[in-house]
Amino acid sequence: MVSSDVRRLSVTLVDVTKGHEAEFHAIATQFEALVVRKNYGRAEMIPDEADPTRFYAVRHWNGAASAEKCHGDPEVQALTARLYQIARVTHVVNGVRRPDPMRLLLDDRRARVEADRRTGFDRRVTNVGRQDGDRRKSPDRRLGPRRLRDRPGEVDLIGAARRAREHADAAFSHFKVGAALETADGAIITGCNIENATYGLTMCAERVAMFKALSEGHRAFLRIAVVADTDAPTPPCGACRQILWEFGGNLEVQLANLKSAKGTHRLKDLLPLPFDARLL
Ligand code: THU
Repeated sequence: MVSSDVRRLSVTLVDVTKGHEAEFHAIATQFEALVVRKNYGRAEMIPDEADPTRFYAVRHWNGAASAEKCHGDPEVQALTARLYQIARVTHVVNGVRRPDPMRLLLDDRRARVEADRRTGFDRRVTNVGRQDGDRRKSPDRRLGPRRLRDRPGEVDLIGAARRAREHADAAFSHFKVGAALETADGAIITGCNIENATYGLTMCAERVAMFKALSEGHRAFLRIAVVADTDAPTPPCGACRQILWEFGGNLEVQLANLKSAKGTHRLKDLLPLPFDARLL
């Protein structure tokens, strides 16, 4: 991502609640017109190739000042408030933010992997329709950085979770868990369970990973791996499912033990009928 003033870009992931598609398109159209009318830049809504309720809202700002003005515009805020009622909104790239050295490091990493990423935003183009023969067979095909997965060993999420498990502090249950979360820009953030003499203060591996990631500025996630030393897979507990859903959306959840993978799930299947901000 170029961070000069002329090429400021914001990208937001929008998951529209089923049944609200028409309202969503109306809001998007109004927003696109508003951004041009007020000379903030230009906006486009790019549909996901595989998920009909998912969109990528891309704003090309006329510089950082325009982006800031747009964010503070009451007309924009009114539209955004309506959007939040009918969609789950995840900010992926914030065009207002000034470059900082940490970010540049991450961007450097992204530059290395993005060209190969199936899920990279830069590979998405305006929907001009596709012939059926060109369609992917199932939504799962779009999960994760496909090319990287095609080269096993480059992103070993389960391996990272196994290594993270070594740091678990499970003095009371002796049940050690490791987790590894993959962000949309290719970073892997790990976690392990940390127990406490006041048992209820114990924190699971998955939440440690998610909170670490959020605290480092990550906002978009693809997958999480969870590892325990058990024959049966160890799925995330209810509290973790809620946190993962709120911050990670419909993640791919990989379960494994110390020897082998034990299955892959989607979070929406592990947490049907979730409570989240759309209901507030
Ligand atoms: N635990 C996790 O870290 N993740 C899970 O998915 C299940 C449970 C931890 C919490 C506690 O430290 C120990 O495992 C036993 O419940």
